[in-house]
Amino acid sequence: MKTDEEILQIAKEASERAYCPYSKFPVGACALYESGNYYFGCNVENSSYGLGLCAERNAISTAIAQGEISKLIKIAVYSPKSDLCFPCGACRQWIQEFAQGYNTEIVLQNNGMVQKYYINDILPYSFKLL
Ligand code: THU
Repeated sequence: MKTDEEILQIAKEASERAYCPYSKFPVGACALYESGNYYFGCNVENSSYGLGLCAERNAISTAIAQGEISKLIKIAVYSPKSDLCFPCGACRQWIQEFAQGYNTEIVLQNNGMVQKYYINDILPYSFKLL
């Protein structure tokens, strides 16, 4: 199982692949599952600004496309432009969807150190159908 430091490093490397000519704000994410598998993604922007995709949803979409069905236990998010690069509201809802009842850890970088939060703390009272 990858450590927090390792998934943050993978998120950092993923941020180097970001396509962000409009915001110039690269983001990388690495999603770690209960299976031990992990998937990474970067943000992908578009000249039609609203169509941009966040790094977290790119990583989670990749996991789904690869057939991942286990719980999302951790997701690291990194931007070279900002410490504590928290997931946006839409990505928090996506993380909650694939947590499947687990209190997923959000792994961020602050001053070169790992700082962790829980999805249930940063998205309380979230919408759930199931
Ligand atoms: N972004 C992410 O990739 N993840 C987030 O959770 C917040 C924002 C991206 C979207 C856009 O390409 C850039 O950061 C600036 O908002």
